[in-house]
Amino acid sequence: MSYFADKGPLVADIFSRYPASPQGRRSALMPLLREVQDAEGFVSEGRMAEIAALCGTTATEVRSVMSFYSTYHTVPTGQYHLQVCSTLMCALAGSDELWDELVHELDVQPGEVSPDGRFSVQKVECLGSCGTAPMMQINDEGYYENVTRSKCHRLLAELCQGRKPAPDNPVPVTVLDDGRQLLASGERAGAGVGSLTPLTGGNA
Ligand code: FES
Repeated sequence: MSYFADKGPLVADIFSRYPASPQGRRSALMPLLREVQDAEGFVSEGRMAEIAALCGTTATEVRSVMSFYSTYHTVPTGQYHLQVCSTLMCALAGSDELWDELVHELDVQPGEVSPDGRFSVQKVECLGSCGTAPMMQINDEGYYENVTRSKCHRLLAELCQGRKPAPDNPVPVTVLDDGRQLLASGERAGAGVGSLTPLTGGNA
């Protein structure tokens, strides 16, 4: 059954954010993917074809866009989708060992869901939290930082009880009115917009 057949107003709203041109229609691909994934947990071949038809493109192009972003899934994921950053800083800080621990403890491989439907795992590229390596993200909702072996075990123990521990930093990050980030610890990070130097005009 078509996902978008009874969602005309939603589709119209998404398309209204982009220019009324073939390129504009293709730009709606990402929010349409997000819509399906939020509702169904992954984007099946059938949904890719449906989105492709809406955007005036091909299912192959939709799949190719999806393959660029680890946030989109082509197969079902578990209730807790554990994503371990495997890029350099995290690798140097022990993400390989963290990954081995996870797949060993959960007995699950990428693309699989544990028999109880609770867990799936994925290696991802840098999630921009290199200073707190090794880190992992659970679902799309939060970052768990400096994940040592013992912290990994604590997290898994909570998740096995059906409780999702509070992340060290939520996603998306809270950005304050002055442009600085509010960390979960309550600290403010980054430079405020007040400290930015305005660009000046001229030809130099
Ligand atoms: S290298 Fe892991 S968050 Fe950047």
